[in-house]
Amino acid sequence: MNIRSIIAVFFALVVSVSSSWGQKQQGGGQRGKALVVYFSHAGDNYAVGNVEVGNTKVVADYITELTGAEQFEIATHKYDGMAFKPLCDLASREAKEGELPEYEGDVDVRDYDTIFIGGPVWGGTYPRIMFTFFRDKDLNGKTIIPFTTHEGSGLGRCVEDVKKAYPKAVVKGEFSIYGHDVRSERSKVEEWIKGLGITE
Ligand SMILES: Cc1cc2nc3c(=O)[nH]c(=O)nc-3n(C[C@H](O)[C@H](O)[C@H](O)COP(=O)(O)O)c2cc1C
Repeated sequence: MNIRSIIAVFFALVVSVSSSWGQKQQGGGQRGKALVVYFSHAGDNYAVGNVEVGNTKVVADYITELTGAEQFEIATHKYDGMAFKPLCDLASREAKEGELPEYEGDVDVRDYDTIFIGGPVWGGTYPRIMFTFFRDKDLNGKTIIPFTTHEGSGLGRCVEDVKKAYPKAVVKGEFSIYGHDVRSERSKVEEWIKGLGITE
């Protein structure tokens, strides 16, 4: 082997090691990059009172810490400062009328193979604003891992609704947790993530 070949092999090794390290940092292991898409309402909420960080965001942050996945928050100021009861009334009106409230910001989903989708259960499924995201973003062909925080409905109709939105995605590994448990039961999220087999 001459000196040029040795240098070429050396650089090939450096590139391959740094690229697999990069993939692990981004949370997808050998499966490529992962993204956590979530909606979460901070403020007055059922069972937990007035919280600065919404229950679903607490779980989204755990997922990021555990997997290195990046995040996109489906964010809006529409519900800022609302008390629980008026928020329930507004949410059920939105659902009845099939509204698609606008969200802020954007994300290029083409960069990701695995997408965690999480939100609270509102009236049995995800909040309408998440359906706006489903309208805007094509996740067919990707692996989608739905999760919810709730106060009794579990996953509700969320998994079915994700499958309806993305008939050609692989939808699996779903998880739900009580909203009032998220701050004290991080281990439940850890067990779930471990069971998915996407971390080392
Ligand atoms: C408008 C509204 C509707 C809700 N509807 C339900 C429901 O149908 N089933 C349920 O189990 N919990 C329901 N909840 C409780 C939330 O799902 C629960 O508190 C969740 O953890 C909130 O998450 P967040 O803080 O990320 O928004 C509702 C809460 C709100 C504000």
